[in-house]
Amino acid sequence: MITIHSIAELRAQLNKARLQGKRIGFVPTMGNLHEGHLQLIDQARACSDVIVSSIFVNPLQFGAGEDLDSYPRTLADDQEKLASRGCDFLFAPTDAEVYPHGREAQTQVEVPTISDLYCGASRPGHFRGVATVVCKLFGMVQPDVAIFGEKDFQQLMVIRRMTEDLSLPVEIQGAPIARNEDGLALSSRNGYLSPEELKIATTLNRTLLIAKDALLNGSKDFSGIEEQAETTLEESGFKRDYYKICRRSDLQPATDSDKELVIVTAAYMGSTRLIDNIQINL
Ligand code: PAF
Repeated sequence: MITIHSIAELRAQLNKARLQGKRIGFVPTMGNLHEGHLQLIDQARACSDVIVSSIFVNPLQFGAGEDLDSYPRTLADDQEKLASRGCDFLFAPTDAEVYPHGREAQTQVEVPTISDLYCGASRPGHFRGVATVVCKLFGMVQPDVAIFGEKDFQQLMVIRRMTEDLSLPVEIQGAPIARNEDGLALSSRNGYLSPEELKIATTLNRTLLIAKDALLNGSKDFSGIEEQAETTLEESGFKRDYYKICRRSDLQPATDSDKELVIVTAAYMGSTRLIDNIQINL
């Protein structure tokens, strides 16, 4: 695997592959990689000839008081993991390479409506930062296909929408959530949790499975199911952020006639914010 830090070098390397008619698969990350990320690499390999991953802790998507400074930077370890999984190029740019005129002067990409819901409401500006950096990374890598985890379900929708709205010639693929045996969705932020908190954190997925069962058994009491789940989470030690049964197509609150649903949730374990979701077909 070749690690590249500059856009010019990245373009030079990838132009060669493109001229050979190779299909380029892209997995953008913020590093501190876990098995979930590596499964994105596997998925990229299944549908492309050359795999590029990026590691960039994007300051634009962190709010004031969030974990930008403490976000783990583990480049050597990440390089080893990516190489062992068959990644061809790692693009690890500096802040100055990505935002040469400074963050304040950066042109930004705003995906309206969907960016304001749920995680967007709790983290104002977060999805603008995500859309902006992903749009820029697409311009730098010019991939044929890009893979994003479904754990960040709303992020995936924002990126799909941006790609469509800006007519970007990139196929967007979602990848299933990777979980521990106990059901906890893999996340770089799980590393912030103590062993005790890690055990409690499994409640998040458990409430989703219980809610899914209720919906599959015909319940339409969406607010009752949401309240029950939030109570369970609070009783187990979580602080609530949101828990919502949504229509999958636009993340609006589900109605009785909707068949394709997703339950999206975020909750705080101490100062660590965890997210999870589950898709349901009625
Ligand atoms: O999901 C992430 O790790 C980040 O939001 C992404 C897509 C790499 C953009 O910084």
